[in-house]
This record gives sequence, structure tokens and C-alpha cells, in this order.
Amino acid sequence: MTDTQQPIPTVEFDIRSDAALWADPWGHWDVMRDKGRFLVNHTGVVAPTWIPTQYDDIYEAFRNPTLFSSRAVTPWEEQEAHEWIPVELDGMKHTKYRQLLMPFFTPAKADELAPMVREWCSELIERFADKGKCDFIGDFGRLYPTYIFMGLMGLPVEKADMFLDWADQLMHTPATEDPEGTIRAEAGMAIYGYLGGLIAERKANPQGDILTYLINAEIDGQPMPDSELLEYAFLLYMGGLDTVAGTLGCIFRHLADNPADRQRLVDDPSLIPSAIEEFLRYYSIVTTSRLVTEDTDFHGCPMHKGDRIQLSIASANRDPREFPDADKVIIDREVNRHIAFGAGPHRCLGSYLARAELKIAVEEWLARIPNYRVADPSTISQHAGGVAGYGRLDLVW
Ligand code: HEM
Repeated sequence: MTDTQQPIPTVEFDIRSDAALWADPWGHWDVMRDKGRFLVNHTGVVAPTWIPTQYDDIYEAFRNPTLFSSRAVTPWEEQEAHEWIPVELDGMKHTKYRQLLMPFFTPAKADELAPMVREWCSELIERFADKGKCDFIGDFGRLYPTYIFMGLMGLPVEKADMFLDWADQLMHTPATEDPEGTIRAEAGMAIYGYLGGLIAERKANPQGDILTYLINAEIDGQPMPDSELLEYAFLLYMGGLDTVAGTLGCIFRHLADNPADRQRLVDDPSLIPSAIEEFLRYYSIVTTSRLVTEDTDFHGCPMHKGDRIQLSIASANRDPREFPDADKVIIDREVNRHIAFGAGPHRCLGSYLARAELKIAVEEWLARIPNYRVADPSTISQHAGGVAGYGRLDLVW
């Protein structure tokens, strides 16, 4: 596998709190890519963490689950910390658990859900459309995917705020504010506690939702224990919520700051699907990790069993070796092999649903609010970590 024997530059940043990364979660990876094909980081991680920066290497790593196990998708936690199903499973076990969920995430299922998604989307936008302003994230970006997730899980939408608070604490508390991890641990326990109660409730009163389906499903002829149901439900919650909210924030800020792109979409909504693909490429929000399973020389990068490898999708998707004019948003880009949804066996299960949610949001918003701008750039807050995004984004029209 050796094709270079360059010294590997060391970088120092804690992905959960690094100031430069949080100030610009996308530009940061451009800077990293310029430092070398592979980097190594020892800061804020439990083992040496290798960082490939180029598209081809990141794509290859995603597609080599034998060498790079999903058993640890965060480099700052011991691998025993949890076992998120299916994202932290490997091999046949992963295939079985993933297949169980497939019927809920087909293109046909996304089409079937689209009218409901459009209804919730319109209802949310109409709550503030005539007010001339909103905090895009608080009033729309986070509520919209939360409602959809809650609909899928058969959860009451009046609990949306409670879920959002927990999710925010768990995903976006900087390590500097929570050095012992207490806030994050408590939020995680609150979510597990609520979902645990819900599993018991659904067992007593089955409904037509994903949770009831999972309760009744069997793996190797056996029902899943509650601990696994809990892991499953938790991942579905985290997987579908923050990612969509983060991507929506990026899209709507881009359209606020780039009126020419916005006007093109208003004039010709048939461009919206290709624009969404380009936004997914340019503003990729997920940085995931893998556990190295054996000593190896990965294209000149000397890794040892037990090390971690960090896969920044933003670094891959903005690599000029793969994308001409990678640093420009081209909303009608013709060839766009982006990997915003990952690649290989763990490629995002919710990608069809996510694309439908994003497309419907842009269509419904621009039909009602074709002209808008950022109210005051100094009030914008954004975060990085495993999933990047915005905490606050005030818009006016
Ligand atoms: C724009 C929105 C989204 C983005 C960018 C995104 C991105 C990703 C990525 C990169 C992965 C692979 C992680 C890895 O390999 O470590 C992933 C996995 C996953 N995503 Fe998404 N996702 C999005 C929306 C959703 C939605 C709406 C759902 C479901 C409601 C969902 C459910 C999942 C699940 C279940 C997995 C694990 C698949 C497996 O391990 O086999 N995602 N997502």
C-alpha cells in the first residue's frame, strides 16, 4: 500500500473545542489539506489519530471496513463507551441490523412521506413568514427535522423542545465548558431514559411507527433486547436531527449571502435538486472516525492497531483533485461525486429522506420568502465537532 514515505505533519486541535475550527468548520479543512496528504493528531483524542485529507484516501478508508472498523466513530471516546446501532457495528452484524431498517428508508418511502414533510414545513414557515424576521435555526432549522423524526417514531410533537435541548447539550457543549463531560453525560442519560420509557409504553400499546416495528422485529429469530432497541432509537434520533438542521443552516445562510444564486433558484426551481447536491458537497458537516484494526502502511501512513483514523467529509468534498473549482459553489455543477452521506457499508441510510427534506424546505421557503438576508453577522453562532452547523442565524426580509 506504500506510495509515499513523506514525514507525517503533526497537527494540534481538539475537534470539540478548537477555536479556528469552530470559527470556520469548512475552511479549517482546506487549511489542513494544504499541510499534507496525511496528518496526525494527539490532541483531545484517546489514541493517535491519523487524518487523511484527500478525497481518494478518505473514500477508500470508508470502503475498507476490515482495516478500519466502525467500532469507534468518535476519536475522543474509548471504544467501549457505547455501541450505536447500526453505525458502530461491523460485518455481518451490521448488515443484519441495517437491513432491518431498510424498508423505512427507500426512495419510495421518502416519496410517500413527502406530502407530510411539506405540510409540516409550510406550517412552520407560515408561523413567522409575515413577521419579517426569524432565528432560522431556532424557529425552523431544528424544529423541522425534529417534527419529522418524531412523526417517524410516533412521538408527540409537543416534546420537541425537550428533545432539542438534550440534543444540543449532548452534541454541542464545547469540551472547555464541560471538561468532565458531565453535561453531555446527563443529556445522554435523559434521552436514554425517555426513549426507555417509550419502548416500555410501545410494548404495552403497539402503534404503526418505527419503534413498534423494531420491537416486533427479530434478529436471528430472537427479539432485540431493550438495550439494543435503545441504541437503535438513539442513533435514529441523533442521525436524522442534527445533520438536517446543520445542512439547512448552511444552505439558507449561503442563499442569504449570495442573492444571485437565490434568484436563480426562485426563477428556476428545477435547479433546486442540483443546488442541494452542491450545498451538500461544499458545506459537508460530518467528520467521523474509525478504529485501525491492524498495523498497516496506508499509502505511506504508518498506522498501528488501536489507532484512530478521522474521516473529514468536508476535506474530501472540497479537494480540488476531485472537484474542479472546488472552492466555488456552482449550483448547476454537472458531475458531483460528493460523499456528504459517507461511502461504503455505512453510507447514510436516511439520504433519500434527507434530500427530500432539504428540497422541500428550499422550495417552500423561496415560494414565500424569496428575498431575505442575514440580520447581523455578529450574532451568528456556529459549531464544529462530529457534526458542524449553526446555533443561531437571524434572518430578516
Ligand atoms: C443532510 C442530512 C444528513 C447527512 C449529511 C448525513 C450523513 C451521514 C453520514 C456521513 C453517515 C455515515 C457515518 C459513518 O460512516 O460513520 C450517516 C449514517 C447514517 N445516517 Fe445520515 N445523514 C443525514 C441525514 C440522515 C437522516 C434524515 C437519517 C434518518 C432519519 C439518517 C440516518 C442515518 C443512519 C441510520 C446512519 C447509519 C447507517 C449505517 O451505519 O449503516 N441520516 N449519515
